[in-house]
Amino acid sequence: MQRIRGIATRFRRHGGAHGTGEKQEMTDPFDIRRAVASDAAALTAFATRLFRATYSDDTAAADLDLYIAGAFTPDMQAAEIADPSGAVFVATTGGTLAGYAHLIVSASQSDTALLSRIYIDAAWRGRGLAKDLLDTVVCECAARGVQYLQLTVYEKNTRAIAFYIKVGFAVTGSTTFTVGDDVQKDIVMELDVMARPARA
Ligand SMILES: CC(C)(COP(=O)(O)OP(=O)(O)OC[C@H]1O[C@@H](n2cnc3c(N)ncnc32)[C@H](O)[C@@H]1OP(=O)(O)O)[C@@H](O)C(=O)NCCC(=O)NCCS
Repeated sequence: MQRIRGIATRFRRHGGAHGTGEKQEMTDPFDIRRAVASDAAALTAFATRLFRATYSDDTAAADLDLYIAGAFTPDMQAAEIADPSGAVFVATTGGTLAGYAHLIVSASQSDTALLSRIYIDAAWRGRGLAKDLLDTVVCECAARGVQYLQLTVYEKNTRAIAFYIKVGFAVTGSTTFTVGDDVQKDIVMELDVMARPARA
């Protein structure tokens, strides 16, 4: 199982100062929108950087390189963005990517979708941005008649697991996920979209 049309949902959330050294006004808002073809190259670079940063402590560099070569290229992100059976959402602030989420709707089980990826840049974590992205994904699921949102998460990714539990996912099992030649154990989690309280 892979790890994680849309409605024009747009949320604006105020950003904040962050620790990257770049000048970012406290008042800069986050903008969440559907990704478009012209986002592909920047999304590839962003996704590559965050994937490497998230897993480099527990995964050999060669395995990360192999996985990244097969998952993150501008052509692949362009295909994901264009795929009508999925949806890619990006969160930006000041014209810069701050996070993204990729939803894949199952062809065989139309009531189930996969949250393939949800990543927030380290500088922007803890400000509710992942929750806003998830809300956007949940709206997309509801618009498509999807009831169950599933995901798999690396068993050692305790921060993400804590986030998923906080926002309402429950553990339903385990599976494997192959990064290069490294077969890792993932936890399978599921959210009943229809049972999730509406966004305030
Ligand atoms: C997991 C991740 C997406 C969370 O992003 P975030 O922007 O920090 O999360 P938010 O600020 O939207 O948090 C939403 C809620 O979850 C809670 N939360 C977030 N991270 C948490 C953690 N590690 N432990 C407990 N609660 C957490 C927040 O407190 C918040 O709850 P609140 O609204 O009651 O305050 C982010 O840490 C990330 O991108 N990690 C690296 C990439 C990754 O692992 N992606 C998942 C791959 S499967």
